[in-house]
Amino acid sequence: MRIYHRYQTIIEDYNDFIDALRRPLRTTIRINTLKAKKEMVLNMLADLEPEPLPYYEYGYRIEGDRIGNRVEHFLGLIYVQEATSLLPPLIMDLKPGLKVLDLCAAPGSKTTQIAQHMENTGLIVANDNSWERIRGLANNLDRAGVVNTVITRYDGKVIAKKITDYFDRVLVDAPCSAEGTIRQSRMVLYHWGLKNIERLSRLQIGLLISGFKALKKGGILIYSTCTFAPEENERVVSYLLKRFPAARIEPIRISGLKTRPGILSWQRERFNDEVVKTVRIYPQDNDTGGFYLARIRKVGDVA
Ligand SMILES: C[S@@+](CC[C@H](N)C(=O)[O-])C[C@H]1O[C@@H](n2cnc3c(N)ncnc32)[C@H](O)[C@@H]1O
Repeated sequence: MRIYHRYQTIIEDYNDFIDALRRPLRTTIRINTLKAKKEMVLNMLADLEPEPLPYYEYGYRIEGDRIGNRVEHFLGLIYVQEATSLLPPLIMDLKPGLKVLDLCAAPGSKTTQIAQHMENTGLIVANDNSWERIRGLANNLDRAGVVNTVITRYDGKVIAKKITDYFDRVLVDAPCSAEGTIRQSRMVLYHWGLKNIERLSRLQIGLLISGFKALKKGGILIYSTCTFAPEENERVVSYLLKRFPAARIEPIRISGLKTRPGILSWQRERFNDEVVKTVRIYPQDNDTGGFYLARIRKVGDVA
């Protein structure tokens, strides 16, 4: 747990934070209404005692962790998705008919959820740069019955060279150091390093700028990570705000979910005051993994 020591200065209930990170996470699922009615699926899952999440009508915690073997999973009636992973689509103001870019989409947890909220209409471009992960994405789209999505394989940093000012919504669910996922897997401990965080921060800035250029004026972009590192969160958003006056941070409220404001400084670095409107999600607050979310509107043209 040493990798988390650096956050003692920004998390006032640090001991609770560490205690929560040590506890394993219960499995969370999303009911896929593209395939079946919620009530029907709940009846099929009754033996798993589904417990509703307070902040999402299709999200449930369940007992047991062998859900991947069940017929409901095989048929795409449910999607196993960590509770925080369900959050970005909830703040995208999704509705049928929109054009959405999911810049780092594989393996498709959020793409399939976005398709669900768009009722399989409009257009989703699900992009990722990894062939291997795109295979999983294609399988998941198929299993979930998604028909409004095309898959592309570009480096997300250059997608704005192909298409600008086009999408109503953009999701940049960025590759990150994944510090918030330790309750699911301890792998994060083996890959963690400050050099890696700095590398990811530069990559995330490139992805966010590209996603922002692809967004049309008036559209909404969500930037998300599953890490606590301010270099990958507030610094990245701060950079966008400095570079593009047309980027506006919007407040995030998800009823039933406790969030904490983005931080304004880290070590010797000071961030743009607006990042206080972005949110941090700590494991001790909602019994979830860790997460970060920013909602950004494009209010003008971008050169
Ligand atoms: C956090 S994961 C995305 C999870 C996905 N949004 C979901 O909900 O299932 C980050 C993804 O970014 C992809 N990625 C990494 N570098 C990229 C790049 N330069 N361009 C596009 N995608 C990239 C990785 O392959 C990985 O699938």
